[in-house]
Amino acid sequence: MPPVVVARDLVKKYEDLTAVDHITFDIKRGEIFGFLGPNGAGKSTVIRMIQCVSPVTSGRLEVLGMEVGAHPREIKARLGVAPQDNNLDPDFNVVQNLTSYARYFGMPKDQAVRRADELLKFMQLEEKRKVMIEKLSGGMKRRLIVARALINDPDIIILDEPTTGLDPQARHLIWERVRQLKREGRTIVLTTHYMDEAEQLCDRLVIMEHGRFLMEGAPRRMIADVVGDCVMEAMEADDAAERYLRSRGQQVERSADRLYVYSNECRAINQEFRRLYPDVYSTVRTATLEDVFLRLTGRGLRE
Ligand SMILES: Nc1ncnc2c1ncn2[C@@H]1O[C@H](COP(=O)(O)OP(=O)(O)O)[C@@H](O)[C@H]1O
Ligand SMILES: [Mg+2]
Repeated sequence: MPPVVVARDLVKKYEDLTAVDHITFDIKRGEIFGFLGPNGAGKSTVIRMIQCVSPVTSGRLEVLGMEVGAHPREIKARLGVAPQDNNLDPDFNVVQNLTSYARYFGMPKDQAVRRADELLKFMQLEEKRKVMIEKLSGGMKRRLIVARALINDPDIIILDEPTTGLDPQARHLIWERVRQLKREGRTIVLTTHYMDEAEQLCDRLVIMEHGRFLMEGAPRRMIADVVGDCVMEAMEADDAAERYLRSRGQQVERSADRLYVYSNECRAINQEFRRLYPDVYSTVRTATLEDVFLRLTGRGLRE
């Protein structure tokens, strides 16, 4: 099956700033594809180009086999987008936010109401049906935005930072629904600056910074290739401890007050380290995408 999104040498410039800098990728039908990167990486800019609301500066971008510049209306009709900002209509209640949105797609009123009620149930908002937007929690607003993105039964669901700022419980609910949508066979494109979110949800992802891709692939594969299976972490280690770890010939990164030792022998190194530096707290944990980012850039994702 052909990819649902094809980008070749895609560029977006805002005057002097190159927000998206010659990126190439394919998104396959039925996968969850992620753009992971810090603020300002260019994630939302890519989304807005796919969504046909921001013109491409150069390069090729096709969505569902159609070129974005030539077929914006047809493409928009088949996408469901949950934008980064909560742009719900404060003058309408919860269900009206969905039914009024359905009108953009020319859906008859009774069908819109039926679909809206299904989606409120799906996103666990049915009890909030008649509530005004200002009375919703942050998590409920995000769920409503996701529900709204599904109103037209889209071929591709695009979620721009679906859980930013939410508490763990609200995030897990959204993750669970995203997985459900995937099980139903939908294609999902998401952006996030949370490495755990990307790792948990994405089949494939790109790590993005300054408009470019640092790496792409399946999360576990990337971790295995770049980091290995485990990481030793030492908290508030002094210079002597750092010198010792480096002298072991291991790859060591520092991020704020932590040292990270990347080695497949990190369990043995940690045991020895604890004997030599009993006052420094250290531990061995499973490697994550955060470590991939740190190793690729020398910086943490949230620095
Ligand atoms: N409309 C705009 N005009 C000028 N610069 C913009 C505009 N939108 C985004 N940018 C800039 O483009 C870069 C990428 O932004 P964005 O795509 O929003 O990143 P992300 O979503 O990864 O945080 C940032 O430096 C941002 O300031
Ligand atoms: Mg963004």
